[in-house]
Amino acid sequence: MQTSADVIQKVSQIPQVDLGHFPTPLEECPRLSEALKGPRIFIKREDCSGLAFGGNKVRQLTFTIGDAVAQGADTIVHGAASQSNHCRQAAAACGKLGLNCYLRLARDHKSIPQGNLLLGKLAGVDVEIVDAPFGPELDVVKHELAKKLESEGMKPYVVAGPRSTMLAAVAFTWCIAEIAQQQERLGIDADWLYTASVGGTQAGLVLGTKTLGLKMKPFGIAPIVWENKLDRMRTAANSAADTLGLNTQIVDADIQNTDDYIGEAYGYLTPECIDALKLVAKTEGIFLDPVYTAKAMACLIDHIQQGKLGRDDTVIFLHTGGTPALFAYHEELVADL
Ligand SMILES: Cc1ncc(COP(=O)(O)O)c(C=O)c1O
Repeated sequence: MQTSADVIQKVSQIPQVDLGHFPTPLEECPRLSEALKGPRIFIKREDCSGLAFGGNKVRQLTFTIGDAVAQGADTIVHGAASQSNHCRQAAAACGKLGLNCYLRLARDHKSIPQGNLLLGKLAGVDVEIVDAPFGPELDVVKHELAKKLESEGMKPYVVAGPRSTMLAAVAFTWCIAEIAQQQERLGIDADWLYTASVGGTQAGLVLGTKTLGLKMKPFGIAPIVWENKLDRMRTAANSAADTLGLNTQIVDADIQNTDDYIGEAYGYLTPECIDALKLVAKTEGIFLDPVYTAKAMACLIDHIQQGKLGRDDTVIFLHTGGTPALFAYHEELVADL
């Protein structure tokens, strides 16, 4: 069995850049537990990862941009939904490291100069809204742009799956080693680890917990319906295990992930997610985001209400950030107040 120190040592061998504030805090939330008459709840504050309002992508970009720099890139090409947290954090990382940055964002119902899109523009990177949906079609746009930039003498690196997803799994294997050390210090041994993910974040949590033999079971709440999600997460986890030199083998049965809290579609609020957001803000002074973490918290609350987790359990909720998107949803949120 590997120790957390072994995992941290292996992670230190992977090309990386210094972007964030790690370890992120692990904080107990007694007033939230009390309000829910539920388990002991701790929040792992990836929303406090430092760079540009934080979030899970800072840890991931530590390795994706590390990969780009190791390959001699001078330019990052990225793109996703128009309120992408990942792109906002990539823009900030490029500013910090002196890299060029091109963002191609899919036109959608939140292509407004607010939240993440505003921050990307303020960071001074090349941002364009394009008429290609987030997914494989947008990836084509990113790769075509990279070819053009290359022909102009630049050295572009495209952030896209499956490599970016694999490096996210490396990042969140490291996060698990961090949590294992924090649990020891706090004298806890959690039963569950809830998080918003349908990709590399959960892949890394699954790989890390299995590698370290932790009691804690990761439970992922998808913000979007992705075809072949188990395939993608299993492949990312196993490629990350190869990259890190770990013997752990991940199978589908290791991955628990639900689509039940998405609501109408990706990026549309549900009444339960608004309630969850307000409850956590009111009881703990911690803000969730409307697209990912509030839906994940709505799931945790629902599971507590259904009795799936009780007073004797301990749960860690991984807060993956995304709070700047709150400002792009002010109309829906104000309407609810
Ligand atoms: C705030 C936030 N939480 C969760 C996720 C999901 O991460 P994953 O790539 O692991 O599905 C994202 C992805 O963009 C995010 O921005």
